[in-house]
Amino acid sequence: MEVQIKVFFLLGLIVFFVSTLEVHRVDGAGECGKSTTPDNEAFKLAPCASAGQDENASVSQRCCAQIKTLGQNPSCLCAVMFSNVAKMSGVDPKVAITIPKRCNLANRPVGYKCGPYTLP
Ligand SMILES: *[C@@H]1O[C@H](CO)[C@@H](O)[C@H](O)[C@H]1NC(C)=O
Repeated sequence: MEVQIKVFFLLGLIVFFVSTLEVHRVDGAGECGKSTTPDNEAFKLAPCASAGQDENASVSQRCCAQIKTLGQNPSCLCAVMFSNVAKMSGVDPKVAITIPKRCNLANRPVGYKCGPYTLP
């Protein structure tokens, strides 16, 4: 009897933690709003692919225009840099995070924390 109660308690705890994680995961998918996902937005940054791989590559006007739009929602911008689509395109978040600065965007979210990196 005693053991059964402990097992039930443990199971309840596990279910609680798993459901908490699940809620956070779903929340995390909404960084770019309800109608789109970071992976979807990453496709719009195709002109930034080379700039996101090489810190010395020049950044095109088209890339900067897209970054400027996305930068209005920094949490979306960060989520895009860490998205699977960006990763599969060979984009390095550490390099991608420097793109707003390389575009000389005046209103970029300087100091915004993107995971382990900070927007310069
Ligand atoms: C970028 O340029 C710097 C300075 O010239 C150099 O040290 C670095 O290796 C270059 N990075 C890449 C990815 O080419």
